[in-house]
Amino acid sequence: MCGIVGYNGKEKKSKEILIEGLKKLEYRGYDSAGIALKENNKITITKAKGKIKNLEEKLNENTTTLGIGHTRWATHGEPNEINSHPHQVGNITIVHNGIIENYKELKKELIEKKYEFKSETDTEVACALIDYYYNLELDIKKALAKFIDKVKGAYALGILVKNDDKLYSIRKDCPLVIGQGKTGNLIASDILAISNNAEKICYLEENTIAEITDKEVKLYNKNLEEIKPIFKEIPQGEYTTDKCGYEHYMLKEIHEQPKVFKNTTDKYVQNEIESLKKEMPDFKNYNKIHIVACGSAYHTGLVGKNLIEEYANIPVEVEIASEYRYKKNFYDENTLLIVVSQSGETADTLAALRKAKNDSIDTLAIVNVKNSTIAREAKYVLTTEAGPEIAVATTKAYSAQVATFGLIALNMALEKNIIKKEELTQILKEIKELPIQIENTINNCNYKEIANSIYERDDIFFIGRGIDYALCMEGSLKLKEISYIHSQAYAAGELKHGTISLVENNTPVIGIITEQNLKDKTISNIEEVKSRGAKTIIITNDNNIKNYDYITYLPKVHKILQPLLTVLPLQLISYEVARLRNCDIDKPKNLAKSVTVE
Ligand code: F6R
Repeated sequence: MCGIVGYNGKEKKSKEILIEGLKKLEYRGYDSAGIALKENNKITITKAKGKIKNLEEKLNENTTTLGIGHTRWATHGEPNEINSHPHQVGNITIVHNGIIENYKELKKELIEKKYEFKSETDTEVACALIDYYYNLELDIKKALAKFIDKVKGAYALGILVKNDDKLYSIRKDCPLVIGQGKTGNLIASDILAISNNAEKICYLEENTIAEITDKEVKLYNKNLEEIKPIFKEIPQGEYTTDKCGYEHYMLKEIHEQPKVFKNTTDKYVQNEIESLKKEMPDFKNYNKIHIVACGSAYHTGLVGKNLIEEYANIPVEVEIASEYRYKKNFYDENTLLIVVSQSGETADTLAALRKAKNDSIDTLAIVNVKNSTIAREAKYVLTTEAGPEIAVATTKAYSAQVATFGLIALNMALEKNIIKKEELTQILKEIKELPIQIENTINNCNYKEIANSIYERDDIFFIGRGIDYALCMEGSLKLKEISYIHSQAYAAGELKHGTISLVENNTPVIGIITEQNLKDKTISNIEEVKSRGAKTIIITNDNNIKNYDYITYLPKVHKILQPLLTVLPLQLISYEVARLRNCDIDKPKNLAKSVTVE
């Protein structure tokens, strides 16, 4: 997590460019922000706790052409000004995204060499280490090469050196892009942060040192041999990063889902469903699938498992990436690992991908950010077309991932020839109609009255069976992450094995019922909580279900597409509950959008 940005240009506007970039990177953390500006060999550092606007208020008019900036998601040390970046030790000033894992032993060694530390951060240790090597070598590139060899962990660094007018950067396991613009050169944790000021971009490779002046970008390997940078045009997209009149990005992104579904499915399915076979990798050889991801992306994997097992008859295991990467994995040469990630930078998901690659297992990534590390490293890539997702809580990227899993299940079923022609024709028709169904569901949803009736409660339960249970898990996560209400998702049949003791008079229980064959079973479980006083809220595609406190009726569509409608009331209810509780919806506390630490 954390976002970094840097500028070395001809025009005296580094403050403006860095602040603009930091605002775009705020999704990566907003515990504190800081900026270092260099003028006439003097480096001025300004820091502020909280969001970028607090930092902005502290900055004066400025006339510098070189600087670095940082927005923090705290890992080591509480989010106060001392622990904020940039950190400065001796000749070196740095901003850092990532975690230096061996910082404690490095700190001990540096203290023995008479270094003193003001903060609790691993970053200050990194800064001191670069300073130590710099004093030894009297050459910053040699110092950085030594740093790369010595340090364990993950980092993307922006570096300023006293009496030097260049900007330096290195990275390992954290993203970093270099931009070339009309007025100068930039670095940042992602393209969004520099897209207004850069015309071309180049991704910094690992073990490479970038030396950046206002005119040129030079790259060196660890032996300090020069490498030619390859700059590409910035990819253009149709999604804007404005709120477009919506009160929050989250609401805007919920409303973008019809377009996101269309753009994601259009890539693979045009006038005939068979086009999937051309557009997607050949899955014929795989007889076992592992899906690995974190958070909401993990929840899409649970939906994927349901669909692939049902339609393609292939066994699927879904695992949380932070567990998968450290456990014994039972795969063979016919196993496919599917990783799912909006950002394409999630540290644990990336590590799981690398682990499988190392074991010579084929990998497929479902990613939203096209040039992300995961997209670059996976064998096969299916990109979702959600556009930039700014709200920390995912909505449209979740849907795009679910849509992609639906298409994968269909493709696998097609390849095995186990799906009927009539069913395929029906699915194709429904895919074409779904954007309008999504729009209607959003516009007709009674989420406001439901939110009004539950926003003051302390505990909320979600229950469902089969694919609806996977949706419950997403609904519950969405609610707690943005509204800070405790909630839990249960397989409907499991509630009575303990948790039902928490259900009291008026405890909201949200029941999802879209699986026709499981409908009666889930209804029985809802009756069990109703008879114990629960407030019952039902989300269903069955118009015959009646007599509960609140019911949201969904259009009934093919099972492969149904989750794309079911998730909408869940997103909207969470949004509205958080709004009624005056929460910071787009930037919930303690969270960050891109989790590049494990
Ligand atoms: C929840 C949410 C997170 C992410 C998770 C994985 O709303 O957004 O749970 O799904 O952090 O992130 P990506 O998809 O970027 O790997």
